[in-house]
Amino acid sequence: MSAQQTRLEISRDGSHTVWSETAGSYFHNPNGAVEESLYVYFEVSGIIRALQRDEDVSVMEIGFGTGLNLLLLADLVHQHRPDAQIRFTSVEAWPLPAEQVETLNYSSFLKNKALFAGLPPVFEQLHRATGPSKPASGSLGDVRYEVYSCPFSKLRFKPKRPFTHVLHDPFDPVVSPELWTPEVFAWLKSRCDESAVLTTFGASTAARASMAKGGWLIARAPGALGKREMTVASLSEAKLRDFKRLNEARLTERWDAGEFSHKA
Ligand SMILES: C[S@@+](CC[C@H](N)C(=O)[O-])C[C@H]1O[C@@H](n2cnc3c(N)ncnc32)[C@H](O)[C@@H]1O
Repeated sequence: MSAQQTRLEISRDGSHTVWSETAGSYFHNPNGAVEESLYVYFEVSGIIRALQRDEDVSVMEIGFGTGLNLLLLADLVHQHRPDAQIRFTSVEAWPLPAEQVETLNYSSFLKNKALFAGLPPVFEQLHRATGPSKPASGSLGDVRYEVYSCPFSKLRFKPKRPFTHVLHDPFDPVVSPELWTPEVFAWLKSRCDESAVLTTFGASTAARASMAKGGWLIARAPGALGKREMTVASLSEAKLRDFKRLNEARLTERWDAGEFSHKA
């Protein structure tokens, strides 16, 4: 893909999502973009709880897309821990045009509606940013962001502080198999805190086996908005206490036996 052919659509909770003609995929669950993002990436991940308890939060996202997760994080920080200086890092290979981002209806889903005005300028920066060595950076509310405008495979940076949370939000493994490999999950692990939590809408056994092979402990959680399951991974057993744990040794064995190689 060079640039994506995209159009905005309204998901069932009234919030915009993006249909990518090029990828043949939505950016979010068409049953509710804001609702699913809040559930998978902020509720189940424990970010809201960590903000409320004054714990360290440093986020890595795979797939910046519309920037919705940055907006939601800034809004949650505003509600739960203003002035906290939370860090957010993300990567996007094909940034949307800033003019399209301006028309997203996300401000009406935020407590602090003024935050939305800060989003299109992030995309203007992304279109000027020069790949893996110079991310778009600045502050959105109390969140310090760095967004890399390049494919994930080009990233080489080490974070200033290890990540505490990974929002794994690429297209699904059929569309973006390169973002669901054990090497990607091992790369993330090497940049994470020892009690980091990774959440994703992805719930296939192949995706979970790949995460296990990449060194993560795995659990399942109920999915959002009509989806049966989602996945929660962590480097700490304690963080998965509230979820149904899976057998990582068995998943890794199945990966090594090549059971999922055809599914990437
Ligand atoms: C599911 S959407 C992300 C949704 C986003 N988190 C949001 O809330 O709007 C996946 C995004 O990953 C980007 N992407 C796909 N392949 C990529 C790659 N190899 N490296 C970096 N970004 C990629 C796509 O352009 C798309 O914007």
